[in-house]
Amino acid sequence: MKLKGKNILLGITGGIAAYKAAILVRLLVKEGAQVKVVMTKLAKEFITPLTLATLSKNPILVEFFDPENGQWNSHVDIGLWSDLYMIAPATANSMGKMAHGIADNLLLTTYLSARCPVMLAPTMDLDMYQHPANLKNIEILKSYGNIIVEPESGELASGLVGKGRMAEPEVITERIIEFFSSKKKLKSKKILVTAGPTFEPIDPVRFIGNYSSGKMGYAIAEELATQGAEVLLVSGPTHLEVSNPLIKKIKVQTAQEMYDAAVNNFSDCDGAIMSAAVADFKPVTQYDQKIKRGKDDLKIILEPNKDIAAELGNIKKENQILVGFALETNNELENAKKKIQNKNLDFIVLNSLKEEGAGFEHDTNKISIIDKIDNITNFELKSKQEVAIDIVNELIKKF
Ligand code: CTP
Repeated sequence: MKLKGKNILLGITGGIAAYKAAILVRLLVKEGAQVKVVMTKLAKEFITPLTLATLSKNPILVEFFDPENGQWNSHVDIGLWSDLYMIAPATANSMGKMAHGIADNLLLTTYLSARCPVMLAPTMDLDMYQHPANLKNIEILKSYGNIIVEPESGELASGLVGKGRMAEPEVITERIIEFFSSKKKLKSKKILVTAGPTFEPIDPVRFIGNYSSGKMGYAIAEELATQGAEVLLVSGPTHLEVSNPLIKKIKVQTAQEMYDAAVNNFSDCDGAIMSAAVADFKPVTQYDQKIKRGKDDLKIILEPNKDIAAELGNIKKENQILVGFALETNNELENAKKKIQNKNLDFIVLNSLKEEGAGFEHDTNKISIIDKIDNITNFELKSKQEVAIDIVNELIKKF
């Protein structure tokens, strides 16, 4: 019951993700919160007030007054009642209005008059999300002190794939819990994270790489920052961006560059999470000119790259925590345990490529965490954001 005694006003705007609001209300009530719901007229097309009233055990607020008896729904009173105004889903339209002070429904007048903190969970199609007008509105809302629960990337209701899917109700609930847990657990800690693939050049137009998307590492960096940590994200080539200002990103291309960035910065960090899929080998020769087609076979001789995690394990001080990943296709547990030893890790996150929905290009992951003394915790298949919360919680326990 982590939200006992908290009054949460849930604002629901008209997007398809509104159906998830029912789960969100249930989760919040389960954690002991009092929940009231204010919704727009359009939101009622996606989820019925009856469902939400039943789950929240409170009448749903839509209109400025009840047309039957003229009773006034005071947006000022609702705002004063709330400890937090959580707007989920927040559509581009409603966010645009909030950013510019337009108040043409109860949800919006409540937004303008609320004195409590406001959190928003945006939802929309990827192109709408990326439109400069929307991105600018989000920046404006952030400048008002509103907290954005970032949307996830994945398949959208339109069938398109990209960023814009509302964060899962579980993630939003976790954010709300964190928000109320007065102390950010990693405040004043600095954590290094490696993420993404590395590219090892063969010639100016070709490289050896791998399928890592970087999503897991970026989710970890965001979660660390949410917990108050200063994060140094050493990232191989990805298309991902970071949103939390506590994250400083160093872009690298090759394993050697990642090694240099990690080793040079580790000494003033409290810990490191090595989520990058580092290429184990690089071509001995990198050609200055593009290799031309020839009649004979082309042999590329490879030599090993340095092991970044092992080097950090080597220079690690007593009070620094080092976390590795193991992506295995066979003998998972045995191989993972060997890596804890060989790289002097405090714990390792094992994900098996055998698991459906886990691994490189998915938005979900299924992990086990194994520590130095062979404690094993198995987790369910979850979104990478939720997996990041589990990994960061494990790290917090080690400090
Ligand atoms: N790692 C690293 N530098 C490397 C190789 C791996 O920092 N050159 C890190 C990874 O980021 C991960 C852990 O070491 O946290 C294990 O990576 P993995 O590829 O599973 O293991 P390897 O040591 O490369 O061993 P193998 O490929 O033989 O399984």
